[in-house]
Amino acid sequence: MPNSRNDFLNSLASLQIRYNLGAGVPPVNLYPAFNPGKLFGINPVPATDKSINYHSTAGFIKNAAAGVLQENEGLEFDPENIVVTNGVQEAIALTVACFRSKPLACIDPSYPGFEDAVSAFGSSLLKLSTDNWLKELEALPEGSLFYLSADFSNPLGYSLSLEERVQLTRLAAKNKFYIFDDATYRPFNLDPALPTLLSLNREFVIHALSFSKILAPGLRTAFVYLPKDLNKVFVANKSNLSLNNSGITQTIVENWLQENNFQLSAHLGKAKERLSKNRKVLEKYDIAYNGGFFCTLNIGQKADFDFCEALLKKEQIAAIPMCLFSDNPKFEKQLRLCLSNIEQDALDPVLTLIKNFVP
Ligand SMILES: Cc1ncc(COP(=O)(O)O)c(C=O)c1O
Repeated sequence: MPNSRNDFLNSLASLQIRYNLGAGVPPVNLYPAFNPGKLFGINPVPATDKSINYHSTAGFIKNAAAGVLQENEGLEFDPENIVVTNGVQEAIALTVACFRSKPLACIDPSYPGFEDAVSAFGSSLLKLSTDNWLKELEALPEGSLFYLSADFSNPLGYSLSLEERVQLTRLAAKNKFYIFDDATYRPFNLDPALPTLLSLNREFVIHALSFSKILAPGLRTAFVYLPKDLNKVFVANKSNLSLNNSGITQTIVENWLQENNFQLSAHLGKAKERLSKNRKVLEKYDIAYNGGFFCTLNIGQKADFDFCEALLKKEQIAAIPMCLFSDNPKFEKQLRLCLSNIEQDALDPVLTLIKNFVP
């Protein structure tokens, strides 16, 4: 077991090997070139320019963020309840800060960035089972927070059905708990999108959208769409933790959005084409996958770090054991595979290799 989950995941991201199904890195070689310098503007700007000067904690591209929701989800949203954060990771930390004295819950396993933020704030976490989480949520008290990704979760690659979306948002309204919907992978849908949780419940859903996977993680930009009554405390926490977002990256993102007619995924055609081809391969292996980067593979034997280390050394294939994300023995034979950086022709033999591999 590595010392830190983050160190381990980061080391995989930079690993140069034949088949990297470990790191959740976007297929950036399939993205159009991105020119941040041109988007910022090549001419010198006065020191008083809004991008250089001090700016408000909540960010100054809130109108563009409202435009994004309108164009991509057909939803109107009051820009005053939108906050620009340093990625979804900061949005998670700020939300946990808002709820730190309240019960916090997630499905086991969930994105480690949420679980680690909860422990950093010393809060306690209720982990819900993958089979019965909706029922277990009924016991969540008023004012609590439930974290999930409704679309293409990390690490399971799970998405909520329409019925689950309706039931979850109704339950939140009935029992008055909040939902943090981490929409980091939502733009990577291969089928027509299901409604966002936000469209089903404005009062109790926090919708967080990252530019890290669709554009560039170095921008450290996310848009957070907040219920009205959370806005003040969320902004107060941000002013303590990070003061504000860089005006330089806000300007770049705003200009990129304008150039792209506020569309989040029109430029992802080639990337999605690869993911669609990989879906066809996965069907042959009976592996569920509808979009995003991740799927789960059951290998019928213990899939621990020793297994993954041997797989890496002998076959040059990186994969992540699900035990990195959960202590539940139910997942001990499972691997998390990232499908974004492998070609269809390679995926087929690689899956066979992993399934038959003897460490
Ligand atoms: C589910 C999920 N949420 C959030 C993030 C981090 O997003 P950001 O770079 O916007 O902080 C990641 C990155 O891997 C992720 O997988």
